Amino acid sequence: AKITFITKDNQSIVVEGTSGSVMELAKQANVKGIDGDCGGVCSCATCHIYLNEADLLKTGPASEIEKDMLELDDDANEFSRLCCQIEVSEAIDGVVFQVVR
Ligand code: FES
Repeated sequence: AKITFITKDNQSIVVEGTSGSVMELAKQANVKGIDGDCGGVCSCATCHIYLNEADLLKTGPASEIEKDMLELDDDANEFSRLCCQIEVSEAIDGVVFQVVR
């Protein structure tokens, strides 16, 4: 799947992958603002991204655990996901993720 990240300083970074989590892919590509401090176990929110409605349908909603984590993040809104919880697959091809921090 092809995934575009828009960083806080408005850089657009396109990455491509077939498996693993979106956070891992972003780390490999050195996407600024995706730190993945907890290693992808949904407990740090340093992989916070925003997405649009159409892409939200592609990725599906956040899980309960993810929602709980997002609740602790002041920047979270209805278009938030933690990208370590999004699996890379063809189902999400073409998504555009805006890096929150
Ligand atoms: Fe820590 Fe996603 S990497 S919550």
